Amino acid sequence: MANEWDEAWTDEYIFNIWSPCLQWENPDPERQVILEKMKGMNSILDIGCGGAVLRRWVPDSVLYVGVDNSKKMVKCAQLLFPGVSILEWPAHELPFVDRLFECSLLKHVLEHQSLSRFDDVIRQATRVSDKRVIISSFNLPFAENETVIHMAGPNDCFYNNILGEKFLETTIGKYGFGVIEKDNSVPNRSTWVCDRV
Ligand SMILES: C[S@@+](CC[C@H](N)C(=O)[O-])C[C@H]1O[C@@H](n2cnc3c(N)ncnc32)[C@H](O)[C@@H]1O
Repeated sequence: MANEWDEAWTDEYIFNIWSPCLQWENPDPERQVILEKMKGMNSILDIGCGGAVLRRWVPDSVLYVGVDNSKKMVKCAQLLFPGVSILEWPAHELPFVDRLFECSLLKHVLEHQSLSRFDDVIRQATRVSDKRVIISSFNLPFAENETVIHMAGPNDCFYNNILGEKFLETTIGKYGFGVIEKDNSVPNRSTWVCDRV
């Protein structure tokens, strides 16, 4: 299935979203939080990596792999970070053996899935992660209970759900991970650290 973002946006538009990061001296506050929670992890899979902006601040000693199912996002990430492993692949069918990475990241990805896809994406992220899955969202702090389905983008072409905390916790738990920390220190952002139980 084609990626909705590829249908909606041009290469140039996508490049203009991600390329300013090359000028940033420091990561934005949300990425700072994420990088802190990744400390000590030797391999990272960035699932739905977009422009792979985080890669700028991942030490070279750490294995970083990005995957995204948008051709245009992957093309842009490869332009921004030549030589880095960035693959065009769907998050719900990851091509890696179990526990290959110490840590995987889902940053602003789960809110863009249909509910059935949501479960598949979490199942795959937990399967390929040996120790930790980090989930970050701009919507998480706003829904204690129900997950609310929203659409956004040109012609409402992609999901922009508000994730229910309980729903997310239950799904993570189903695949053998537990939420050990919920960091809400960045306004309107939430970063969850989920470790293998
Ligand atoms: C809002 S962007 C976030 C990009 C990046 N994680 C960040 O925060 O900088 C969401 C990304 O997830 C990707 N994506 C959404 N659903 C996906 C799926 N099922 N498989 C792989 N990538 C997906 C989109 O193509 C897009 O690049």
